[in-house]
This record gives sequence, structure tokens and C-alpha cells, in this order.
Amino acid sequence: MTSPQREQTRSVGDAQCRVENPGGARRVVVTQDLPGRRWLEELAAADCRVEVCVEYRPLDAATIRELIGTRCDGVIGQLTEPWGEQLLRTLRDAGGAAYSNFAVGYDNVDVPAATALGIPVGNTPGVLTETTAEMAVALTFAAARRVVEGSRYMAEGHFAGWLPTLFLGRRLYGGTLGIVGAGRIGSAYARMLVEGHKMDLVYFGPHANQELEDFVTDYAAFLEAHGERPVACRRAASLEELLAAADVVSIHAVLNDATFHLIDAARLAQMKDDAVLINASRGPLVDEVALVEHCRAHPEFGAGLDVFEHEPATAPGLLELPNVVAVPHLGSATIWTREGMATLAASNVAAILRGWPVWPDPDVAPFLTGDAPHAAPSIVNARQLGLPVFGADASAR
Ligand code: DGY
Repeated sequence: MTSPQREQTRSVGDAQCRVENPGGARRVVVTQDLPGRRWLEELAAADCRVEVCVEYRPLDAATIRELIGTRCDGVIGQLTEPWGEQLLRTLRDAGGAAYSNFAVGYDNVDVPAATALGIPVGNTPGVLTETTAEMAVALTFAAARRVVEGSRYMAEGHFAGWLPTLFLGRRLYGGTLGIVGAGRIGSAYARMLVEGHKMDLVYFGPHANQELEDFVTDYAAFLEAHGERPVACRRAASLEELLAAADVVSIHAVLNDATFHLIDAARLAQMKDDAVLINASRGPLVDEVALVEHCRAHPEFGAGLDVFEHEPATAPGLLELPNVVAVPHLGSATIWTREGMATLAASNVAAILRGWPVWPDPDVAPFLTGDAPHAAPSIVNARQLGLPVFGADASAR
């Protein structure tokens, strides 16, 4: 693999950029610095000069337009950026032929507009699954067992000795877990709590997840064979049915017009009074003002939030509530995952610029170690753009 040439720096408007591989023939803009080095090696191998914005704040459209300038072959952007028709057109007008989000979610990108402009849009699936599920599990226990309240109490010096009634929480073991959206992250989260905490599972989503159901059935047989209570799994016919049944409700759905405020005041009222609500997907799935009201009115209710309706802002009062645990969108924040996301985003852009086909398999592990396939790991509008598929014919290898 080519080693990037030594870096330089450059100012664009009021933004500072680090320039990697300055002699590269193609120009790629990266709107935030990314962890690891492999992603830079991928771009250098594709003969890209890489301009990395080192402003540690989400960028607005005007700054991104300045960064793109008059000539830019590709961009790696962030989920905090408004990649609507205008920005995408700016990229296309600068000669841009590839965009990748540094995220698995891409609700910040107008994909139909990108398709109309002929711009492939990449994302970074596969490397966030267990990592984000782990954060959802951490929030679940933190909210159910009042970990943050207890920690704050200790830090403030209030602990004067063990008491039978101090910070009593909820026992989750053997309870009922509800997941809204049984895709990759939802399923990984469900398996952690079904397998580890013997919770029964009820899930709701547009598609049946046979693999998940089979896993729970097989695991139930295993438990029974070991003299333990078997776990159960069912697909709820309605969201209402799930909300009424679950001790923990965790949201793993994508954000779109149909899922905006999926959990609103009426739906919160359908949950058990002492339920725990977890959101590590996208903030606007929950009506945050309604959640504040609900948590105030039901002190025994708990919420664990990784995402917020108007990030980085939060609804008034949310963060003061003792029954709310909030972390700043850290679901994918492990070194392994973020380096993997960087590699996938860079590989998406580099492969498209090299004219390589797209990878057909949801398993992107081959891109993370050793010699990566000559393909773009994940392009969400590949089919609509008619891009060639790796392995589909000899010329695509
Ligand atoms: C994503 O990739 O969509 C996540 O929200 C980032 O953690």
C-alpha cells in the first residue's frame, strides 16, 4: 500500500485544513479529521491529495462549500452536515464524482438528489453493529439501575453508608425486551439481552426477522435442556402491543417521514409506568418535549438517550431529570469502530474515483484488514445509478 506523502496545512476561509499526500492528482475533502491511518493510505493509493478540515465543530453548508472550492473529486462528510441538493450540486459542479458519509445512517443526505446528479453516496455499515448495541445496553442498565444518579451522589459526597432503600431500580433479568426495528443493530442489542439476561423478546418492524426468531428459538431449547426457563420471541402486530408488553423499549429504526416522532406523548402513555426507553438511533424518532413531560410525571420511568431531537441542543429540562441518562451521540465511539468507519468511507470514495465496482455483500470485513477487494464497500444508491457489481462479470474484478 502507498504511504501518504508528508502533510502540509492550508486555510480555507476561517477553516484550517491539514493536507495529506499533497502531490496527489485527485482532490478529496474530508470535513472532520478521522481516526487511524488506513483511510489515508486508501486515498493515497488512489492518488488523492486529501484536505482534512481540522475544525473540531460541525461545519455549516457555507464552510463546506468553501472547502469544496472549484475543483473537488470527492468528499467524506459527517452526519451533522446538511447534504441536500445544493451542497451536492456544489460538489458535482466542482467535478465531484463521489461522496461518503462517515456514518451508517444517511438521513442527512438527499440520496434521490445525489442520484439525479449522478453522485454515488457511500455509508459505513457493518462496523457499528455490536459497538452501538453495546452502548444501548450500557444505557439500558444505567437507566434501569440508576447508575448515573448513584455516581453523582458519590461524587457529591452524600454516601454515608449502605441503606436498604438507596436508589432502588428495576431488575431486568427475565423481563420483556421490546425492540422497534430489528435490523442489524437492533438484533445485536436484542441478542445481548436475551442471551445474557434471559429476557423475552418482542419486536416490531416492517419485516419479519427470521434469523433473530430462529436464534431465540434455538437458545430457548438450549436453556430448557439445561433446566432453565426458556426465553420467548414474537413479532408484535402493532407498536402499541409492543409498548404495552415491554419492560424496556429500545428504538433501532431509521429516521424518515414515517418514523418522525414515532414515540410521542400518546405512545409514551402506552408504556408501563416503570418502563425504560432507549434511543441510540436518531433523536427525532422521539418527541423530546413529550419525553421530558412524561419523565417528570412518572419518576419511576427511565430513559437512556444517545441521540437528541435537535442535536446538540436538548429539550428544556431534559438533562436535569434524575431518571434520564444522556450521552453525546457516542453509540459508535470505539477506536475499532471509528477506524473501521474511516476505512470504509475512504474506500467508498477511492473505489468510485478509480472506477471500481461496488461490493455486493453486507459483510465488509475484507476491507478492514490485509489487501482490500477492488470495490466500493457500500454505496447506497448503487442500483439506482446502475453501478457495476464486483464479481458480477469478469471485467468487474
Ligand atoms: C451512524 O453511523 O449513523 C451513527 O449514528 C454514528 O454513531
